[in-house]
Amino acid sequence: MHIKYYGEYGGCFVPEILMPPLIEVERAMEEIMPTADFQNELNDLLTNYAGRATPITFCPTLSKELGFNLWLKREDLVHTGAHKMNNTLGQALLAKRMGKTTLLAETGAGQHGVATAAAAARLGLKCVVFMGAEDVERQIMNVMRMRVFGAEVHAVDSGTRTLKDAINEALRYWIVNIDTTHYCFGTAAGPHPFPELVARFQSVIGREARQQCLDTFGALPDYVVACVGGGSNAIGSFRGFLEDREVKLMGVEAAGTGEPGSFNSAPLNLGSPGVLHGNRTMLLQTVDGQIEPSHSIAAGLDYPGVGPEHAYLRDTGRELVGMVRDANALAAFQRLSRSEGILPAMESSHALAWVFDHAEELPKGGNILVNLSGRGDKDMTIIKKYLGRELGFDALTEEA
Ligand SMILES: Cc1ncc(COP(=O)(O)O)c(C=O)c1O
Repeated sequence: MHIKYYGEYGGCFVPEILMPPLIEVERAMEEIMPTADFQNELNDLLTNYAGRATPITFCPTLSKELGFNLWLKREDLVHTGAHKMNNTLGQALLAKRMGKTTLLAETGAGQHGVATAAAAARLGLKCVVFMGAEDVERQIMNVMRMRVFGAEVHAVDSGTRTLKDAINEALRYWIVNIDTTHYCFGTAAGPHPFPELVARFQSVIGREARQQCLDTFGALPDYVVACVGGGSNAIGSFRGFLEDREVKLMGVEAAGTGEPGSFNSAPLNLGSPGVLHGNRTMLLQTVDGQIEPSHSIAAGLDYPGVGPEHAYLRDTGRELVGMVRDANALAAFQRLSRSEGILPAMESSHALAWVFDHAEELPKGGNILVNLSGRGDKDMTIIKKYLGRELGFDALTEEA
């Protein structure tokens, strides 16, 4: 195995029993994934099943208000509603070629679970999903969708009942079912080779976006902005522009409520190096190395770690990092919906909110590209909780 590090981050810190399946996944990544046969099958699925390429959409109303051109890379239009499908289709195809019969997944917002369940249904694989019990409650629409696709969904009641705990349980399940099961990891984190594997499958976002910017407005964007949970939509966008030093890459993390003493999900901004889920990265942890609980209104960002490549890019100055509070993300959700008729996922709303909050510092007349990682239909339970009264939802429910 050739274990990949990103500077001092990354690696493969797992119990010995997990090494054989990880070696198998690495071999599939290096030997099967680059073949023309595999790429043709994946491209066919991405185009004719998932709906790629996604467009970049200009936002006329907001651009006028903000004083620069705001463009959205429309990953919300990918089949099942988020960028997650780019990765799950790739890994599902690899799993089949490795002779596996079951796809295993953890999920936070449920988008990765839904995308894995759909890919499994499409390719004739069994699907098992672990999801924190708190996330099951706040993303119930996605749980229902997984079940409709035929997936087994397990609610995880340990720890903070969120993504971290779902990953722990999925790893346990994998250890017991290694022969039949491929762990379809949902973000560019975890032990080698997952950060690299997921980044390669997601880099289709940045590749398309770079060419679309050149074709549409004849230049590269001044900024590419993406929300960072584990980091897959962000690294997928950023990889298209890494060599273009003039393009600023902005990773936006969740600051939580922002109240004194409250929890956040911003390890790149506020964490320190340590090991979690098999890789060395930036973490929210106590001084003696215990993982701290994380919090974000967006389930998909609610994770105390982050992919190791982001930690490296941040240290080297290539990636800039920012933070957005729950309330600002909610405001951005409403602003995009009202101004442009596009409903952003609560995760993507963090990237938008960063742009809205920093509009004064961004180049007048420039081009800002935000990766709209997913659509917000799944977030209606959260919207009802926080904005239901303002939007008159209660009256609607009573009438119904
Ligand atoms: C729509 C959406 N965006 C972003 C994320 C965060 O994940 P990542 O950082 O891997 O892109 C999620 C995770 O579930 C998501 O559903």
